[in-house]
Amino acid sequence: MDCIVINGGKSLKGEVSVSGSKNAALPIIVATLLANGNHKISGVPNLRDINTLAKLLTHLGAEIQFNENMEVNTHNINVFDAPYELVRTMRASFLVIGPLVARFGKARVSLPGGCAIGVRPVDIHIKSLEAMGVNIDIEQGYVTASCDELKGAHIYLDMPTVGGTENIIMTACLAKGTTVIENAAREPEIIDLVGALRTMGAQITGEGTGTIKIEGVLKLNPLNYAVIPDRIEAGTFMVAAGITGGDIFINNCPIKYMGATIDKLRETGIVIEEENGLVHVLSSGKINCVEVTTKPYPGFPTDMQAQMMALLSLADGTSIIRETIFENRFIHVAELDRLGASIKVEHDTAIIGGVKKLKGATVMATDLRASASLILSGLVAEGKTTVLRVYHLDRGYDCLEEKLKLLGADIYRTSENNL
Ligand code: UD1
Repeated sequence: MDCIVINGGKSLKGEVSVSGSKNAALPIIVATLLANGNHKISGVPNLRDINTLAKLLTHLGAEIQFNENMEVNTHNINVFDAPYELVRTMRASFLVIGPLVARFGKARVSLPGGCAIGVRPVDIHIKSLEAMGVNIDIEQGYVTASCDELKGAHIYLDMPTVGGTENIIMTACLAKGTTVIENAAREPEIIDLVGALRTMGAQITGEGTGTIKIEGVLKLNPLNYAVIPDRIEAGTFMVAAGITGGDIFINNCPIKYMGATIDKLRETGIVIEEENGLVHVLSSGKINCVEVTTKPYPGFPTDMQAQMMALLSLADGTSIIRETIFENRFIHVAELDRLGASIKVEHDTAIIGGVKKLKGATVMATDLRASASLILSGLVAEGKTTVLRVYHLDRGYDCLEEKLKLLGADIYRTSENNL
């Protein structure tokens, strides 16, 4: 297994470019199932989650080529089940259920099961499909969906689930009549999915607001689309500059979708300015304490919570982070504390007593964003930090350690056997 070794203490400098968004690319790749033909998607990041989805689509009969762009040929979709091995490792695989039942009238998809950051049910996806006329059977960990005629529906979401909103939008594109989603998720990745669906001929309005309206059409065409840059990767670089007292320029930064993240980072004292199409991030290394609550977009993203905690562990004073999206997303706390942080958790709240410095240690990544927080802490910790189980990091970051190295970090990847 790979691990990442960091010798901390280097202040980051230079320019870095953000890759395409993982969370935008995943549903857009799934959307290819809605139409027969050759689809082209550019800006797809090279990540483990993307490769897992490519494996799933190949299993369904798609032919995929992934070099600089991704090409998906869906002429020969002839399998309609998504097995546990593929859904278990990535919850977004569950998104195939809607498009499969919409285009082929049937699907059998494994329930995702639990994951490190919480229970994460799919009850809202299922309830919404039922509202559109889909028959659902749940047996032995699999959801079997079938449908003779898919019909539009008025759907109110108990919570603005991102995946749920995406699943309903894709399904409704081929349903008879109008679907209205109320309390829909407003994430930029949903706006991007709708942009991609429009290139296929879908009739959708209201994306980016809480009410989305979809007029079903009889048939969609192959898509041709470029995904937006990754706002979480961009935010991670901002924290990397902030925590190391760095001075970096970020290229391809989706600043218009990063309001809450940028506001909070500015409150900590980091200077973030747009300059000639780049985003300049400058930090003196002195960090103010702040209070943060994760919320659905446009609130502060849960996917930036662990990175923010790494930064605040070195703040002047006590910071508070409240996690309202996932019930168990503080597993990184124990590992950050091993690096010298002083963090206590009470229910959904982390109380972070700022310390003067962190000290390198061997730590273990437990989920995707937790791994990023450990790497960020390692950049500034005194001495050597070794982050084990970085396969979590590879799920969602495209060459993170190589990009950090270009910014001057002393960081490298090796096998745990070489330690
Ligand atoms: C997506 C993102 C993930 C991000 C999350 C929240 C992708 C591939 N992943 O995940 O990175 O952290 O949004 O911004 O885009 N819920 C239910 N029932 C459901 C569906 C969700 O109770 O049927 C709950 C979940 O358990 C969770 C909350 O709703 O507590 C939000 O989940 P959701 O928005 O669905 O997240 P994902 O789409 O899985």
